[in-house]
Amino acid sequence: MKMYSNRMKAIVCTKYGPPEVLLLKEVAKPAPKDDEVLIKIFATAVTASDIFIRGSQIPIKFWILMRLAIGLTKPRKSIIGLVLAGEIESTGKDIKRFKPGDKVYGLTGFGLGAYAEYKCMKETDSTYGCLAIKPDNISYEEATVAAYGGLLAFQYVEKGNIRPGQEVLIYGASGTTGTTAIQLARYLGAKVTAVCSTANLEWVKSLGADKVIDYTREDTLSPGIEYDFILDAVGKSKSSKLKDACKKALTQGGKYVSIDDGSLMLDSNRLSSIRELVETGHIKPVIDRIYPLESIVEAHSYVGKGHKKGGVVITISHNTKK
Ligand SMILES: NC(=O)c1ccc[n+]([C@@H]2O[C@H](COP(=O)([O-])OP(=O)(O)OC[C@H]3O[C@@H](n4cnc5c(N)ncnc54)[C@H](OP(=O)(O)O)[C@@H]3O)[C@@H](O)[C@H]2O)c1
Repeated sequence: MKMYSNRMKAIVCTKYGPPEVLLLKEVAKPAPKDDEVLIKIFATAVTASDIFIRGSQIPIKFWILMRLAIGLTKPRKSIIGLVLAGEIESTGKDIKRFKPGDKVYGLTGFGLGAYAEYKCMKETDSTYGCLAIKPDNISYEEATVAAYGGLLAFQYVEKGNIRPGQEVLIYGASGTTGTTAIQLARYLGAKVTAVCSTANLEWVKSLGADKVIDYTREDTLSPGIEYDFILDAVGKSKSSKLKDACKKALTQGGKYVSIDDGSLMLDSNRLSSIRELVETGHIKPVIDRIYPLESIVEAHSYVGKGHKKGGVVITISHNTKK
């Protein structure tokens, strides 16, 4: 008879603070309710959102609202982690969309809990997550980048209503969202200008950008240059003189959108659209570094520096005796 352990490895965060508040522990393995699936997680990610939650460095105007959502004095969910890719291990009796063995990817929303070997989720979209079948042609690690960068890039690029031939500028092109947004804008037929720092110029171009601008060397845009759509893909806390110049370089009717305008929508239909573009080779997730779960502190320290190139991923290995 096959024996399953009722314990699992997880990263536990019982207080807000520096990366060192994240501790590897053994905790109870969750069991799915009738309307839940149990996911065996093979990869998770360290995103800008995870850094934000762990450090709780919340701008003063959102402080009360965000702390009420994530926990007033300490994280409400002691296992954090927003992104997962893995396999459905078992399903509750009411589950219709998934079956054991399905390979899935998604976000856990306010449910968090992706820094663990297992996670239970509902199959329907809500602020507690969204889940879909993962693209077949990429690894679990790549799927975490496709999920997070993809959901953000799709949601915000859609706001541009891009038509073929239009001029699009992606500011902050080397992050998880930026690298996906370049590829999506190219797929939609735009001429893409990507803004990043010196070290990233060449490989960002290789993702499909027609032109690149170095925000560490250029403070202004060439005279007469205008864009139909500009996406700030790094958010309002990261700025430069060039970013200020970009805001004024719009065509009549052009649109400037920041990734911090509004909240991330957890949408499994969008995950399915991302899957199609990944499987047809139009979008390739970019991974910067991969760490084992045991090195989560190191991974958070690296991402916290704010200069990752694409996504930073955590691999979760499972004890095969379980
Ligand atoms: N609306 C929402 O609900 C929501 C949800 C999640 C995240 N977000 C926003 O999404 C942002 C992006 O997340 P992400 O994970 O995709 O980003 P990220 O990967 O953390 O971004 C890192 C990139 O930012 C670039 N960067 C740093 N400072 C910069 C500057 N001054 N100008 C231009 N680029 C700069 C870095 O490139 P260099 O090394 O070349 O500088 C690096 O490649 C987050 O910071 C957050 O503001 C919004």
